[in-house]
Amino acid sequence: MTETLPGADVPNPLDEAAITAAVDTAVAAIDGASTLDELKAVRLAHAGEKSPLSLANREIGKLDKADKAAAGKLMGSSRGRINKALAARTVVLEAENDARILVEETVDVTAAPCRRRAGARHPLSTLQDRVSDIFVGMGWEIAEGPEVESEWFNFDALNFKPDHPAREMQDTFFVEPPEAHLLMRTHTSPVQVRSMLERAVPIYVLCPGKVFRTDELDSTHTPVFHQFEGLAIDRNLSMADLRGTLEHFARQMFGEAAQIRLRPNYFPFTEPSAELDIWHPGAKGGPRWIEWGGCGMVNPNVLRAAGIDPDIYSGFAFGMGIERTLMFRNEVADMRDMIEGDVRFSEHFGMEI
Ligand code: PHE
Repeated sequence: MTETLPGADVPNPLDEAAITAAVDTAVAAIDGASTLDELKAVRLAHAGEKSPLSLANREIGKLDKADKAAAGKLMGSSRGRINKALAARTVVLEAENDARILVEETVDVTAAPCRRRAGARHPLSTLQDRVSDIFVGMGWEIAEGPEVESEWFNFDALNFKPDHPAREMQDTFFVEPPEAHLLMRTHTSPVQVRSMLERAVPIYVLCPGKVFRTDELDSTHTPVFHQFEGLAIDRNLSMADLRGTLEHFARQMFGEAAQIRLRPNYFPFTEPSAELDIWHPGAKGGPRWIEWGGCGMVNPNVLRAAGIDPDIYSGFAFGMGIERTLMFRNEVADMRDMIEGDVRFSEHFGMEI
């Protein structure tokens, strides 16, 4: 009666021992599944269309009528055992899965919120404002000029003669085409001339802004930097007024113990000209003289170029670098830190807004 069925793994639907063994194997695999994905694979192998039981079930049609009922009953109870095991295991694994998700996706309501960090202005900008505030406090005005400047304002009007070596003093970025005579301003001094042309005397202006020179970027140079220029034009202004102004400014910036010193120098646009040193009481490694900028009495040729009569008016001017000031004021060793835009640099300055 027991026929040999095709396919070695297809149990005879009447062979109770073989069917029970297949069901036992299936139940063991179901109970051994440790995740819902594993259970899915087990379900396919032991209860799917190609599982031994399904294949055996298909054989029932070929059986004698008398055997069909017994085989059907055996298959039914076998299926029942498997389905029961599947259902039980599903309940367990789903509960485990839910518990795991609850733990993994727990929201800690006491955790510190991840806030967007507030921005702050760059220390160069806050220093520039501080300098401006000191002069505004003395009744001066703030003046501005273009960064792409005409050669005339940057050099000629400032008494740089066409072949004067002083033109080479400042390494210039010229703007094409050459016949346009445009350049990136090499200093803020052209704003002196613009201010004299645009304003009525007396003039007291501070001109902060960006300047450009063909320097390689290193720890003490950058091709783009900032200066502030001071210009005063009035009757009877003398070197004493220049000195007094700079001394007041130095004390506002570096404290009452700060002093200044002027050393003879040359600039085409001032006569006499001086190098300005500051006695920095809080300097790293002890108080010392630090070279700060240039200054002098406005050259009469510059006054004439700007339409001001040097027999009636005189003036003084000075110019300093903002990066350099920040370097010795706040002990910044490397100028590149100022331009890299890393917020950790600004954080040292307290993130002023
Ligand atoms: N413009 C000069 C420089 O960049 C500085 C300066 C300004 C000197 C005003 C004298 C007067 O070096």
